[in-house]
Amino acid sequence: MPKAYVFTRYGGPETEALTDVERPAPGLGRLLVAVRAAGVNPVDWKLRGGFRRPGESADRVFPAVFGSEAAGVVEEVGAGVTGFVVGDAVFGNTVDGGYAEYALLRADQATHKPAGLSFTDAATLPVAAATAYDGVRQLELPEGATLLVTGAGGGVGTAAVQIARAFGVKVVGVASGSKKEFVESLGAVHVPGGPGLAERVRAVAPEGIDAVYDLVGGETLAEAATLLADRTRLITAGAPPEAVAELGGSRVARARTSAVLDAVAGLVLRGALNPHVTRTYPLDRAEQALRTVEDGHARGKIVIEVNE
Ligand SMILES: NC(=O)c1ccc[n+]([C@@H]2O[C@H](COP(=O)([O-])OP(=O)(O)OC[C@H]3O[C@@H](n4cnc5c(N)ncnc54)[C@H](OP(=O)(O)O)[C@@H]3O)[C@@H](O)[C@H]2O)c1
Repeated sequence: MPKAYVFTRYGGPETEALTDVERPAPGLGRLLVAVRAAGVNPVDWKLRGGFRRPGESADRVFPAVFGSEAAGVVEEVGAGVTGFVVGDAVFGNTVDGGYAEYALLRADQATHKPAGLSFTDAATLPVAAATAYDGVRQLELPEGATLLVTGAGGGVGTAAVQIARAFGVKVVGVASGSKKEFVESLGAVHVPGGPGLAERVRAVAPEGIDAVYDLVGGETLAEAATLLADRTRLITAGAPPEAVAELGGSRVARARTSAVLDAVAGLVLRGALNPHVTRTYPLDRAEQALRTVEDGHARGKIVIEVNE
């Protein structure tokens, strides 16, 4: 039977196991994919803890496979799917998890993987890069505007900085001191996080900040908000809707379409976006991969490679 990395109930790391699972069958609108790579994201461990995505009401069926995105090769095509055939290299959002030898993709949230894009890089695009893209697009900043990105060295932040730079926007990136050179290499002016953040940002951007894309929440978000006269220019992917609404801002609106995946893949192909996969793990070391992200200080992206 195929292997998958699962959680067996809601809770902490003690609920996790590498186990045999049934090979999923692709229902209406789904693709069954032999997974080559799966991106690792904070939402993976949050779901294990009982978090529900917006609009999600049903309880998980256990064991639940970790992961939200994957790249691989189509093994079976579900009813009603057009534009994909067996053998296609694809990537996209998963239905029931991607840390597995086989996963189901939603065909309307998947796309063909260009030959010049590796499975490993492709597996990072549906969550982090697409979230970065949606947020930067939502802000509609003109060329030459200045964007503050908090969590600039993490998965979404790394992509948000590069995408904003590709659109001609100046970026101030908030990250810990250990990520200074990394964040600068992405094209941002680095500012360390922590108390006094707003003052440090004003020092490097005396002309002011036009928008904030927050990926951290909490005190960082609250202090970043003080830099904006117009709080509609404040968006977050890292804080709950009510926390950002209280400050006058909003959550990033996610598009989750094949077209956005094509757009971010295009940015990678033309050299404008490097997902910066800093570490890969095989499926039987998924636990370490997830801990690296759960520790909260990941740099770029962590990917699980399957059957490499
Ligand atoms: N709504 C959506 O569709 C969506 C999609 C993707 C992600 N998200 C959310 O967006 C957030 C960021 O995701 P990600 O994938 O970029 O996570 P990540 O790769 O773990 O990066 C998060 C970054 O935040 C920084 N950080 C962590 N704790 C901090 C603190 N207390 N103060 C200041 N900085 C801190 C870390 O940088 P330092 O080491 O420099 O501190 C880290 O690099 C998560 O909450 C995630 O769940 C939402």
